[in-house]
Amino acid sequence: MNRLAIIGGTGVDELEGLDIVAAHMPETPYGQPSRAIQEGRLGGIGLLFLQRHGSPAMIPPHLINYRANLWALQALGATDIVAINAVGGIAAGMLPGRLVIPDQLIDYTWGREHTVDDGNEGALRHIDFTEPYDPVLRAALLAAAAGAGIPCASSAVHGVTQGPRLETAAEIQRMARDGCDVVGMTGMPEASLARELGLAYACVCMVVNPAAGLGQEPISLQMMRATLAREAAVVRMLLRALLQDRYGA
Ligand code: HPA
Repeated sequence: MNRLAIIGGTGVDELEGLDIVAAHMPETPYGQPSRAIQEGRLGGIGLLFLQRHGSPAMIPPHLINYRANLWALQALGATDIVAINAVGGIAAGMLPGRLVIPDQLIDYTWGREHTVDDGNEGALRHIDFTEPYDPVLRAALLAAAAGAGIPCASSAVHGVTQGPRLETAAEIQRMARDGCDVVGMTGMPEASLARELGLAYACVCMVVNPAAGLGQEPISLQMMRATLAREAAVVRMLLRALLQDRYGA
């Protein structure tokens, strides 16, 4: 049976409406996850929830223990992961308030613990990452969005930068030339670790600001949070629709 885990990003600290039945803080071969993983029911359907930045502590993107997070979710029975990421908009139309289900990514991160392949298995583990997001889970998200009347972009390239600083205007121009539509800091190595572990993984990006050099004002956390508060409510609707469609009895 498929079991869903949600990884919440900036602005999605709790899943409102989640009836929490247990909280788990498992030890993993990589240490502890960002925060206790909540096990609960949303609209009567069981799921797991993890806030990747921790809470109330705010773990920056480059210090998140992505390996422990995914390992722990799998150990608790997750088969499918929907990750929520706040992003900046690069391509035309990727304006604050837009929801995006990306179908591709480009990884600009460096120095993160990015694999569970420790070289001790006696075989090379070259996962196929041609399609970084699970096509079935993406299709389920898009169908749920369509059914619930939630507009969202159905394809986009998600560029993932190292952070925690924001990008320069020239970096964003280069990313645009590379084909990136949105930019965030937490999409990798989360997506490839999920693939290494055999988890179905898809991502919902919430555009919270125009990327560097594309807006009228400097990017601020307040600007992001105002949009996030509005978008998080829409994402919750999307998750409820997905749960009913795909994980209901
Ligand atoms: N750049 C990188 N990450 C982000 C941004 C951005 O503009 N906005 C939200 N996360």
